[in-house]
Amino acid sequence: MSYNLLAGKVGIISGALNEQSIAWKVAQKAHAEGARIVLTNAPLAMRMGEINKLSAEIDAPIIPADATSVEELEALFSGAQTHFGGKIDFVLHSIGMSANIRKKKHYGELDYKFFQQTLDVSALSFHKMMAVAEKQDALNEYASIVGLSYIAAQRAFLDYTDMSQAKAVLESIARSYGQRLGHLKKVRVNTVSQSPTKTTAGTGIGGFDAFYEYANRMAPLGNAPAEACADYCISLFSDLTRYVTMQNLMHDGGFSTTGISEAIVDAVTRTLEA
Ligand SMILES: NC(=O)c1ccc[n+]([C@@H]2O[C@H](COP(=O)([O-])OP(=O)(O)OC[C@H]3O[C@@H](n4cnc5c(N)ncnc54)[C@H](O)[C@@H]3O)[C@@H](O)[C@H]2O)c1
Repeated sequence: MSYNLLAGKVGIISGALNEQSIAWKVAQKAHAEGARIVLTNAPLAMRMGEINKLSAEIDAPIIPADATSVEELEALFSGAQTHFGGKIDFVLHSIGMSANIRKKKHYGELDYKFFQQTLDVSALSFHKMMAVAEKQDALNEYASIVGLSYIAAQRAFLDYTDMSQAKAVLESIARSYGQRLGHLKKVRVNTVSQSPTKTTAGTGIGGFDAFYEYANRMAPLGNAPAEACADYCISLFSDLTRYVTMQNLMHDGGFSTTGISEAIVDAVTRTLEA
């Protein structure tokens, strides 16, 4: 069901790789809510080709940009404004990558070059996007910027390795840049801390199936699916949340404030009795 929440709004959505991507669902829902969109992804992801399907489906051009490159982000924001014929109302940062995770390195043997790349791709790119938008004065008043995070920013999840630090930096950037852009242009900046979700980035993490299932059994509402995350992002892009800023917003079915659940007690009890 759509409510026309984004009628007349225009935005940039990064990170749609395939139909499982959270960004893919956000783009579909933003389009259904009346927004016009420019899609972006790293040139490598473009070569995989699936984003073209989404582009055709929602009539959104794609401007490729490696989010670690300020020059490419400048071309993205100026190209998007040319396409829209004006400034931007919302931006989704849905970007994460760790070569340490890809190469299955445990926390004690992290490669520091990879670590720096993880921080650059998954966190500093958020700052770069906002710095470029600020310099180009690319955002309308009350624009909304959302980045996607994970609870490993606050709690130890060893298999998430250096992405834990990247998410902590991402959330911190949201607060600092939220303060700056709030003063300058009344722009909101938030992160949404999403449940484990079966996407390319998600399932690449060691032990993903186990912690997906653990989170699902802990959360009173169960894990939040990608579609529901997209709904939440739409609410944050809409005018209904104009005074929500500098927050890390938990979208996890209640996982983060649960101590222990009956499902986990039952599972542990069965193990003890076995
Ligand atoms: N899947 C989960 O369990 C989960 C949970 C919480 C938060 N998140 C976060 O959600 C966001 C989206 O991930 P997803 O789960 O939809 O997976 P995904 O693999 O579909 O999306 C990750 C995207 O990052 C893009 N990317 C990687 N390097 C890039 C670069 N240099 N420049 C531009 N784009 C680049 C990829 O091409 C891809 O589109 C990420 O920030 C991820 O950490 C995911």
